[in-house]
Amino acid sequence: MLIRRIKCLGILGIRHNSSHYVTTPIFYVNAAPHIGHLYSAVIADAHCRYQRLRQPRSLRQVRLCTGTDEHGTKIQQAAEVHGIPVATYCDQISERYREVFRNANIQTDDFIRTTEQRHKRAVAHFWRTLNSRGHIYSAAYSGWYCVSDETFLTDSQLRLDETTGTRYSLESGHPVEWTEETNYMFRLSHFQDDVRHWVKQEARIRPPKFEKILLDTLSEPLPDVSVSRPSNRVHWAIPVPDDDTQTVYVWLDALVNYLSSLGYPDEGFSAHWPPAQQVIGKDILKFHGIYWPAFLLAAGLEPPHQLYVHSHWTVDGQKMSKSRHNVVDPVQAAQQYTMEGLRYFLLREGVAHSDGNYSHVKAQRILNSELADTLGNLLSRACAKSLNPRQIYPSVHDEHLADLLQSLDSGKRLQEQLLQLSDRCATHYDSNHFHLVADTVMATLHAANNFFESSKPWLLKGGTPEGGNEARLETIIAMTMDALRRCGIVLQPIIPQLAQRLLDKLSVPATQRQWDSLDSGTFATATVESPRQLDGQTSALLFQRILEEKSEVKKPPQQTAKRSKSQNKEKRRETMS
Ligand code: MSP
Repeated sequence: MLIRRIKCLGILGIRHNSSHYVTTPIFYVNAAPHIGHLYSAVIADAHCRYQRLRQPRSLRQVRLCTGTDEHGTKIQQAAEVHGIPVATYCDQISERYREVFRNANIQTDDFIRTTEQRHKRAVAHFWRTLNSRGHIYSAAYSGWYCVSDETFLTDSQLRLDETTGTRYSLESGHPVEWTEETNYMFRLSHFQDDVRHWVKQEARIRPPKFEKILLDTLSEPLPDVSVSRPSNRVHWAIPVPDDDTQTVYVWLDALVNYLSSLGYPDEGFSAHWPPAQQVIGKDILKFHGIYWPAFLLAAGLEPPHQLYVHSHWTVDGQKMSKSRHNVVDPVQAAQQYTMEGLRYFLLREGVAHSDGNYSHVKAQRILNSELADTLGNLLSRACAKSLNPRQIYPSVHDEHLADLLQSLDSGKRLQEQLLQLSDRCATHYDSNHFHLVADTVMATLHAANNFFESSKPWLLKGGTPEGGNEARLETIIAMTMDALRRCGIVLQPIIPQLAQRLLDKLSVPATQRQWDSLDSGTFATATVESPRQLDGQTSALLFQRILEEKSEVKKPPQQTAKRSKSQNKEKRRETMS
């Protein structure tokens, strides 16, 4: 019967509204943001930017929401450690997230805090809905509680340290404490079949390995879940409606943020509901892949269309943690690489299905070889006054174009790359495979660099013995600029500011930076009037090489630090899985 209800709700993957609502997790304010947090946000941002690039605003409204998760024991304790009132502490850390996201160009429509009144109102309404539908009951409850993960764990989820007698969460490694209390419980067990049915829908959970993990969990009976804590233990939380001896369990509180951001329970929220995609890290899969759809179904609401789950960043092979002193601060990293450089590195090197390793050497190599040498250098060469004294984006001359394509293999290869660029990158963006978008763009830029090199434009300048062939020189520059223009359009979701500078330099009008501007025939300057003047205000130096820190860093290779063939193959194979 419940499964029938899901079908009535229409959650079989058919979307009826014109909104594309995307969320990041809301971030705990018990510590400052690190690159792992930024990664969740950058994935969601790049996804949304791509959606906006594809769809004119009038057709579909893309909406991105992020925010901070500010209640619970963990936050209470963190404020105590710092010796400041908990509300002030939350204000300070929440502001740091806001600032990092602003600097990283995360284009959000809302930043929600769980301490805001609008959110408390939504949680109270949601609770009352669950209660009035008979899904909540009161019970004496005892179990192991993990404060760091804010969750109760069963015996099978624990490891006992024989020497100290302390138990730890098997998954996160954090210690747990024994708790006996009266709680409100949610009848999770009633929703087992519904949640399984939801998980199994096509492309519901991406990448597929996380669907398998959820189905494994769902193959065992689900216990009911505690959804409140006594107020005298957890006072920094939202009171349970009509019972102020209890406060709402922080995960129920936190998950409702996705609704409160839309103004729930006011009717307008349904214009955006359900989310098209919710980006989460692998450690919070259970909460989003089991509790969340069950809560929503219990409240009579559609669960999200898709969960996009990413793996974690380690540092030099180690889990990031304060105790290991290896937490990477995005603000410091941006001082080394620029924020655009950091965005590029995270999306270029991170893959959702397995953990990525963050290392300075790797970041430096990738950024120098790809953004500085391959992309930046080509722009500088095409704009150099020595070759391009009139500082123009020239038109191609048909007879030279035909000849260059016929006589130079590198010209043909560049044309082939450009012909495939839009379709290939669209496929990769559709699956959030940003690393493959970057691979494809870099392959195109390598082809463009090869073409530029082998066509020897410097021999065609007026004043050289062979030279004076202006039309051929202009054609070479126009072909190169066409490759740069297309790559700039494609890269906008990943490195929005650098792509903007590139397109500004080439004087590409704002109306011709949408995805469909890639449809114009190769090497045609489309509807753009050409030749046109380059933008003299914008520097052609796109990305400054990152200099070595002599004590730590080995010398990077002169040429592009591409992954080895076997590494690439491995990465692609995994992406398919
Ligand atoms: N507050 C909860 C989420 C509630 S959503 C209703 C939470 N917060 S968190 O601050 O701990 O984590 C937020 C996000 O950062 C999660 O997606 C998490 O997976 C991600 N990351 C935390 N550490 C990470 C890495 N080391 N690497 C990549 N992402 C990581 O969980």
